[in-house]
Amino acid sequence: MRHFLTLRDCSVDEIHQLLRRATELRDMHRAGHLHQPLQGRVLGMVFEKSSTRTRVSFEAGMAQLGGHALFLSPRDTQLGRGEPVEDTARVVSRMVDAVMIRTFGHDMLERFAGHSAAPVINGLSDLCHPCQLLADLQTFTEHRGPITDRRVAWIGDGNNMCHSWIEAAGLLGFDLHIAAPPGYRPEADILALGGDRVQVFDDAYAAAEGADLVTTDVWASMGQESEQAAREEAFRGFCVTESLMECAGEQALFMHCLPAHRGEEVEAAVLEGPQSVVWDEAENRLHAQKALLEFLMLGY
Ligand code: CP
Ligand code: NVA
Repeated sequence: MRHFLTLRDCSVDEIHQLLRRATELRDMHRAGHLHQPLQGRVLGMVFEKSSTRTRVSFEAGMAQLGGHALFLSPRDTQLGRGEPVEDTARVVSRMVDAVMIRTFGHDMLERFAGHSAAPVINGLSDLCHPCQLLADLQTFTEHRGPITDRRVAWIGDGNNMCHSWIEAAGLLGFDLHIAAPPGYRPEADILALGGDRVQVFDDAYAAAEGADLVTTDVWASMGQESEQAAREEAFRGFCVTESLMECAGEQALFMHCLPAHRGEEVEAAVLEGPQSVVWDEAENRLHAQKALLEFLMLGY
């Protein structure tokens, strides 16, 4: 039984296989081809934080594959009334075929997976967001070909998304130039996973120069709402502007996992501009996760 808590739960070959399959599934979906290998299978979805893309893509994806998805909010389940994660894991995983969890501390996912009889998928934790990276890598590949040996610029917070980009750089072999202010840099042990593929800069322009992809995320992630004002101050100079995209060059794509705050981490003109592929990126959550669900529930 396999879990998908971080990108490192897959081998490099498996990641390439998932990305190829995701594009195949996208093409089949767009052609209206019915493909229902997960008939009778159920995905449990535990959301301890808000979501639009993750919920809709997993729920629609399971329906399209012939299965069913169950939305489980802590507000309506015994998890929210203190039933231990380990007990919930043993009970729920006897009834469903996989469990997706969006939570705060990554240790909750590990505790659940440690007691689960079914595969567990990380739908975002404070540590990382591997499902988003599958969609982002798929999107880059569809627009520009293989990402190996290309250059990605991450501008802003050294957060869960940045951590997953670091893992991806180390696994797939591309250069990642991170621009982040002091105090908001990625965790040192995650940074080490990128090896010499990852460099941290003080200046957004230095990181963006010559990048094939510029990407960013909100300055205050879910759970950090009370830090909004302090973060707005700290991240001044780390907005993806039209001028920063010019510095990267016209070959550069722009991505954002969304939701975006126009005028904070990205200018509206960049988000809506010709280099932006954010809507393809969001759509690919559906296709990439359908590939992942097939992989975890059926194997290749
Ligand atoms: N990008 C992403 O995970 O979006 P949601 O928070 O809407 O799921
Ligand atoms: N870093 C953001 C990503 C949202 C999809 C957060 O954790 O809120």
